[in-house]
Amino acid sequence: MKNKLSILVVGSGGREFAVAKKFKESPSVKEVYCAPGNSGMQTIGITTVAINEMDLDGLLGFVKENKIDWTFVGPENVLCAGIVDKFEKNGQKIFGPNQRAAQLEGSKNYALQFMDNYHVPTARHEAFENPEDCITGLKDFSYPVVIKEDGLAGGKGVTIASDEATAKVTIKDMFAGGQSKIVLEECLVGPEYSMFVVISEDQYRILPIAQDHKRVGDGDTGPNTGGMGSYCPIPQLSESDRQRMIEEIVEPTIKGLIQGKYHYHGVLYIGLMMTDLGPKVIEYNVRLGDPETEVVLPKMSTDFADLIDAAVNEREMPEVKENKQAILGVVLCAEGYPKNPVKINLGKLPASDKVDIDYANVMGKLDNLQSTGGRILMAISEADDLRTAQANVYEYLDQLDIPHTFYRHDIGNKAL
Ligand code: AMP
Ligand code: GLY
Repeated sequence: MKNKLSILVVGSGGREFAVAKKFKESPSVKEVYCAPGNSGMQTIGITTVAINEMDLDGLLGFVKENKIDWTFVGPENVLCAGIVDKFEKNGQKIFGPNQRAAQLEGSKNYALQFMDNYHVPTARHEAFENPEDCITGLKDFSYPVVIKEDGLAGGKGVTIASDEATAKVTIKDMFAGGQSKIVLEECLVGPEYSMFVVISEDQYRILPIAQDHKRVGDGDTGPNTGGMGSYCPIPQLSESDRQRMIEEIVEPTIKGLIQGKYHYHGVLYIGLMMTDLGPKVIEYNVRLGDPETEVVLPKMSTDFADLIDAAVNEREMPEVKENKQAILGVVLCAEGYPKNPVKINLGKLPASDKVDIDYANVMGKLDNLQSTGGRILMAISEADDLRTAQANVYEYLDQLDIPHTFYRHDIGNKAL
């Protein structure tokens, strides 16, 4: 029998919680470490390692010392900082795109040029390097117009401006805030989906598709966030639309990665919208989505550790199989998120046999947790159908009554 795997997961959020949990379930895994992880991970038997995710030398030292088989990288900033190039140069196996490929998320303009080069459908767009040209460029777009910061912004660098006055203020503020490039985009309309593709050079596998809820308020109102809740499967997504997404978006993207010699090993997150003119890419990310991962991985019956092990070692990847469950999760946030979340004392959370908690930004002991960021945890239910899963989650959250926290009340409604 082959030796069981020791895996390091890099990151500390709900996504890394879900990834570490899924790896831990695999019979081929011996130990899962997470650096730096979060204190909620003690509930699922993950060993957290006190090394900052951006301390690449520290992480490299850890994997060498602890004979880690491979490392799985959660967050984009670590990938954009070049962790993969560094590990590979030092003979350590790691799953994630290299620094060059990570620009597909690190720069909106880079990603749009890639889509133009390889004929991947996306929104009409134009990039600008100063506020005057950008404001002049507004005349080529109608309203609402989408205004994006070029660089990484944690899902918060996008404004959909409904009129010229708002657009001008947004553009001036973004440049004044230090942005050197801004992209204007036509505003697409249609349902939005998150598709995660596990890629190992020219092989790929598509994970179950999920739907996120990006706006902070009920009914998709208020500013964009990292994501307020998600569910999977998506009953209203037809098989023929799914096929179009694969043929019109995934296949040309993979072809581009091969032709462009990206040597892509990692997850590519394709955020897309099903418009009247067919599927169009909203964004590429070079990692799994958060909070979609927390519902996508429980939907998979395929052994996720085996899948990633095959991708890392360039073996044939197993097919992705889905179970029959419906999974829905809602994020509990600290008041002030996404701008300035306050610090919360959560105390001890009640146990539930219908709901799992994937912890994100928490520290301290389990009976006295404190928040360390805006998205605190996700309450998730797996049930026979989405309606039951939704009812279970809201029954749990509604009884919590923790001051200065909030959550959306309509996660999954689009499917019901
Ligand atoms: P991004 O950071 O590019 O993912 O954008 C965040 C969110 O803004 C997306 O998930 C969409 O909901 C919305 N968005 C971004 N670009 C567009 C677009 N061209 N048309 C409509 N909505 C968009
Ligand atoms: N939930 C959106 C993201 O991970 O970018």
